[in-house]
Amino acid sequence: MPTILFTNNDISIEVAEGTSILEAALDNGVNLNSDCDSNGICGSCLVWIDDGMDSLSKVYPEEEDLLLQLDNYISDKSRLSCQAYVHGDIVVTIPQ
Ligand code: FES
Repeated sequence: MPTILFTNNDISIEVAEGTSILEAALDNGVNLNSDCDSNGICGSCLVWIDDGMDSLSKVYPEEEDLLLQLDNYISDKSRLSCQAYVHGDIVVTIPQ
């Protein structure tokens, strides 16, 4: 099973393949915002992928458009955690 390491809390979580980063966080007590209930329209769930970007589901144009509007966007590192489904090990930082 894939592993997600959340660097803020130094918490490592094993998840079923296809779980979203947001779902994994909330199910395991990791504090992550989700103002639109995972509909991919608010941007509050942005995370930085420190390692394993290739282990996530692809970025659709709608997600990319929203990411580009966010203050804490970092190119090649940012994902909406509600839209990123895990298929391998990743390392995640939640912007503070
Ligand atoms: S929870 Fe709103 S974009 Fe992810």
